[in-house]
Amino acid sequence: MLLHASVLVGLLCLGHAGGAWGVARLLDNAELRSAFSVSRTNSMEGGPKMIVTFDTVYVNIGGDFDAKAGLFRCRIPGAYYFSFTVGKFPHKDLSVMLMKNRNEVQAIVYEENAGEERKVQSQSVMLQLEFDDTVWLRLHGDPHYALYSNTGHYTTFNGYLIYPDTYSYQSPHHQHHPTYNPQQDYLRLQDTQPVKSRAGDKEKEEPRKGEEVEDGQDYDDEEDDGRSAFSVGRTQSILGLDQVGMPRHQPISFDTAFVNIGEDFNVTEGVFNCRVPGAYYFSFNVGKLPQKTLSVKLMKNHLEVQAMIYDDSQGEKALQSQSLMLALKPGDIVWLYSHQRDGFGAYSNHAKYITFTGFLVYPDITSSSPTTATTSQSYAAKRP
Ligand SMILES: *[C@@H]1O[C@H](CO)[C@@H](O)[C@H](O)[C@H]1NC(C)=O
Repeated sequence: MLLHASVLVGLLCLGHAGGAWGVARLLDNAELRSAFSVSRTNSMEGGPKMIVTFDTVYVNIGGDFDAKAGLFRCRIPGAYYFSFTVGKFPHKDLSVMLMKNRNEVQAIVYEENAGEERKVQSQSVMLQLEFDDTVWLRLHGDPHYALYSNTGHYTTFNGYLIYPDTYSYQSPHHQHHPTYNPQQDYLRLQDTQPVKSRAGDKEKEEPRKGEEVEDGQDYDDEEDDGRSAFSVGRTQSILGLDQVGMPRHQPISFDTAFVNIGEDFNVTEGVFNCRVPGAYYFSFNVGKLPQKTLSVKLMKNHLEVQAMIYDDSQGEKALQSQSLMLALKPGDIVWLYSHQRDGFGAYSNHAKYITFTGFLVYPDITSSSPTTATTSQSYAAKRP
């Protein structure tokens, strides 16, 4: 999907693609496809049935999304991009969570504002999925919450496979994820009914010891990995403060890594460091703190603003979203900056209002392989 055949041939000629990877990309067109896009044409009020279902299917390549059940079921293990937009119902609050399996909260859309207006809120993340993992949207079960939609299709849900996990695809018995940071945050929601444990759940939650890299030859050559993708979340709010002596332009740091393929994103530092030159897609979503101005900028290198989100309303908690593509060279860095002055801030909690995602869409086909020396030199010069 990401690499056209011609690009792939180019890569193979440059000797850029490792053996297993190259072969896997060739299979891409035929077998490694999964994408869905659905919408809902009526509203839904919070109640015992919290799963958001859909009645309009635009795309369902691979048939992995069951619209009536509201459930995406992973058939091809890999890294998927998900985005959703939900409408706010007049005089109701809005709270819709992106869920993995039974009760693992991944990210949220929220608007606490019982006003009469209708509006939409959006969220997006990448998730690393294993075979039979499910992904769905969960509306808060309290009737004070509702989502709005009509034939104007306010409420939509999309997902597609970015990078198949070719190794486990080729040998299903070695489900090994060297770039995947398992999420610690298995939030037990109090209003979630206990569900009988499915066979296989235990395996998913506890990485098995003693089943490390056996087919290591696939991964030894990190240099040959032409893939790059990250998706991170932050569970803490950010509060701007006037402070003398503080670094003026600190990147927003993160505490949860959904995906970090290629390890190009430093989670604690909050900085993406480009290794593979090419065109990248970035999206970010940030919660608004009541009584604070929200101002978050997507930065490239030293203080080059690329895009921003802004909300200086007096409103309650809500989300703002932004996305764009950038052409990057090795050593370029990309980061988020929240205005560090009193009166500014951003909201998040365990449900992850603040998320940041980026992935390589098309690698440059003319560039030669980046060297680590160039990368770290440029990095030092371009740091925030
Ligand atoms: C992330 O950045 C910090 C601060 O620069 C550094 O100490 C740490 O080693 C980096 N982590 C990784 C995984 O590179």
